[in-house]
Amino acid sequence: MMNESMKILVVDDERVVRDGCHRVLTGKGFDVLMAENGRQAMDILADKLVDVILLDLKMPVMSGEEVLEKACDLYGEIPVIIITGHGTIDTAVGCMKRGAYDFITKPFQIDQFLMTINRAIEKRELEQKARLYEEEKLRNLYDLNLEKSRLKTIINCMANGVMVTNRNMEVVLHNPALMRLLEISEKVENPIAVTRIIDNDRLINTLETIQSEGPSKDAFISQEIKAEKNVLRAISAPALGPEDGIVGTVTVLEDITPFKQLDEMKSDFANMVAHELRSPLMAIRQQDSVLLEGLAGPLQEKQRTFISRGVKKIDQLLELINDLLDIAKIEAGKHVQHQVPTDIEQIIRDTIALLDPRAQEQNIELSVSYQNMARLQADPKGIGEVFTNLITNAINYSPEGGKVVVTAQGLNEYMEIKVKDTGVGILADELPKIFDKFYRVKHPKTRQVLGTGLGLSIVKGIIQAHNGTIDVDSVPDKGTTFRILLPIILDK
Ligand SMILES: Nc1ncnc2c1ncn2[C@@H]1O[C@H](COP(=O)(O)OP(=O)(O)OP(=O)(O)O)[C@@H](O)[C@H]1O
Ligand SMILES: [Mg+2]
Repeated sequence: MMNESMKILVVDDERVVRDGCHRVLTGKGFDVLMAENGRQAMDILADKLVDVILLDLKMPVMSGEEVLEKACDLYGEIPVIIITGHGTIDTAVGCMKRGAYDFITKPFQIDQFLMTINRAIEKRELEQKARLYEEEKLRNLYDLNLEKSRLKTIINCMANGVMVTNRNMEVVLHNPALMRLLEISEKVENPIAVTRIIDNDRLINTLETIQSEGPSKDAFISQEIKAEKNVLRAISAPALGPEDGIVGTVTVLEDITPFKQLDEMKSDFANMVAHELRSPLMAIRQQDSVLLEGLAGPLQEKQRTFISRGVKKIDQLLELINDLLDIAKIEAGKHVQHQVPTDIEQIIRDTIALLDPRAQEQNIELSVSYQNMARLQADPKGIGEVFTNLITNAINYSPEGGKVVVTAQGLNEYMEIKVKDTGVGILADELPKIFDKFYRVKHPKTRQVLGTGLGLSIVKGIIQAHNGTIDVDSVPDKGTTFRILLPIILDK
């Protein structure tokens, strides 16, 4: 424990003792300061940092006991070792009761003398460390409290609602915005069962699913929920504990009512424009048909060509307008409102009859097979649109000489319909996007195909409205297969 920077103050009026101590201690690497009386000792203490005091009791000017009292008062952390003769051992013991650390008797036994000093130094170091730990702990506690109150302030001031639940589906943290969005006016004390705050089965189910499905760090579920007058977006994620186990859920709620209203206004507007455009276009289309049929007099060849071209353009425009109206209806949840027992085979037959001439133009072989056919509860017009879109795509995105195979088969509770082609295929990273509105894959071989990228989003909307699913499998340059499953609902 010898440490060069350790400073020892020797206070003794006998020069021999001071010199003796000095010799021994400096020999051991200590820094030794000396005082021949109490006053000098106090002056040194006021001026320098000292680690141990060796203090004689019997001294002129100021007695050792007096120095001890002052030192204990002013520098309580410095251990004081009393130097005492045999005759004053009782007094030395009394000094220990008043704060001295230990005593050593004159004449000194060097070993014992050094041991006592080393022990005092160890004690001093331990105390210093303990004090540092204590200060550190206090600082950490202070930081933690500061952090906690900062977090609390942030969460409480957030405009979005925050709700944290524990594993028992109890709310353990919420902020004022949550209460405002859920229109709850009474004060709620945590913990409280989540079902007492949230009156929405879908959100409750989501929270239960998140808890039960094991941790998946980047998984979050976003859903729209209605709360009184407001439409809210709820984004829920698992709350992960230190070992990455799920300890509850965290949900952030945002008021999206204004966006919803804007969205509705936008689709109303699109609907209105589409309707307004459709009527005059239909009128022009009809009049052109009258002209083409020669009902307004015979046409010259050139006139016929121009009018035919016009009709083709009008048909494209009408198709686009119909698609836009379809999308608006799907988004408003009004597309498939009239479901009736439907003969799906007949719909497929009609669609193929309609599209076969187009396939032949491209020298594409269009074939179909049926197995275990059953009737579905469905909207015939919607289902017709689905097949028209899928088969048209299969023809459009296949090179000349390709094959398009449609298969329909009943599988217990589902009807499975596949549309398979030998076309250009779709790259894996494009696959998730093809069902998005207006998304079209850029492919050098299909650049000439006209389209708006609405077909598949309409298909998906219609299938979902029938509680069905659609997925796609594709190998670039080999072909693509779309697979639809529609639930068979027996005729009532
Ligand atoms: N069978 C297919 N083979 C290869 N690519 C396809 C196939 N079906 C769809 N795609 C790709 O997906 C994109 C989106 O298809 P979607 O039917 O939605 O739009 P579109 O055919 O471009 O236009 P439209 O709205 O007129 O149908 C297409 O542009 C095409 O790139
Ligand atoms: Mg299409």
